[in-house]
Amino acid sequence: MSGTHQGFARGWFVVAFSDELAPLGVMPLRYFDQALVLFRTEAGEARILDAHCPHLGAHLGVGGKVSGDAIVCPFHAWRFNGEGRCTEVPYAKKIPPGAVIKAWPTVERNGLIFVFHDRQKGPPDWEIPLLPEHGDPAWMPWSGKRLDIRTQPREIVENVADKGHFPVVHGTHVDHFENVYEGHTATQITRGIAHPKGGGQDPFSLTATYHGPAYQITHMDGVLKSRLLLAHTPIDAEHLHLRFAVMLAVFGDPDRTQKFASMYIQNLQVGFEEDIAIWENKQWRDRPVLCEGDGPIAKLRKWYRQFYPDSEEAKS
Ligand code: FES
Ligand SMILES: [Fe+2]
Repeated sequence: MSGTHQGFARGWFVVAFSDELAPLGVMPLRYFDQALVLFRTEAGEARILDAHCPHLGAHLGVGGKVSGDAIVCPFHAWRFNGEGRCTEVPYAKKIPPGAVIKAWPTVERNGLIFVFHDRQKGPPDWEIPLLPEHGDPAWMPWSGKRLDIRTQPREIVENVADKGHFPVVHGTHVDHFENVYEGHTATQITRGIAHPKGGGQDPFSLTATYHGPAYQITHMDGVLKSRLLLAHTPIDAEHLHLRFAVMLAVFGDPDRTQKFASMYIQNLQVGFEEDIAIWENKQWRDRPVLCEGDGPIAKLRKWYRQFYPDSEEAKS
């Protein structure tokens, strides 16, 4: 299952929907096989730090409280700001120089909170593009879900290129299938006819773009306009969170649109459950036997290797 990639990809990963983190909220996170804490400062900014206090090791996300721009440790009340610097020890005049926690680059955008992961601790060199539909009154907010899946990120990403699984796994007839790889983006352009479980036929046309290794936005502009989110974040080498959400252009009254969004997200979940049954039980093949008619799986893998700049594979 592990293949030859080392560690986790470099790039932006979704760690929460914005509305999960209340004003002054604190959330313990476990991603990249590490304990982290996410909190919202009084100014409303989302911040992520390593979870364990440099003092005696308490978890800041379990009982820690936000005060001003800082999180206060639940054990002896040392304060750490969003840059991970200790700004106060309530019972000492001098703050020890080692009282520092690693701060992770954090951005809140498009109704989502992102963290930048880089094993070599470099700064982000590209940004998550703004989705203008988010916050636009002509559009509904995200309706979303999170699934906990036993698989690795490459399986999720490979869907971009895996033309052959659509009819078999999803009952979708594909007329046109194309991938465009450009820098850190990978775009899938598909036209076809879906055969929903409840019967009937839905012609569709979609453009789905990965911005980096783990965050994909799909535009569907048929009769119904929608934006879809698909984002995965590794918990450890064998588990990840898959977040998916839909945003619909308001049609008729918002209540009706909202009901429709709920149905839509239900259908999406059925689609993912079809994939998940495969993902959780398959084996990763570094050297798959491929044939004519398979999608551009080799191209996709080459594109994805850029997010492992320190692995042997990326150098070859
Ligand atoms: S363990 Fe955090 S202040 Fe003591
Ligand atoms: Fe799929």
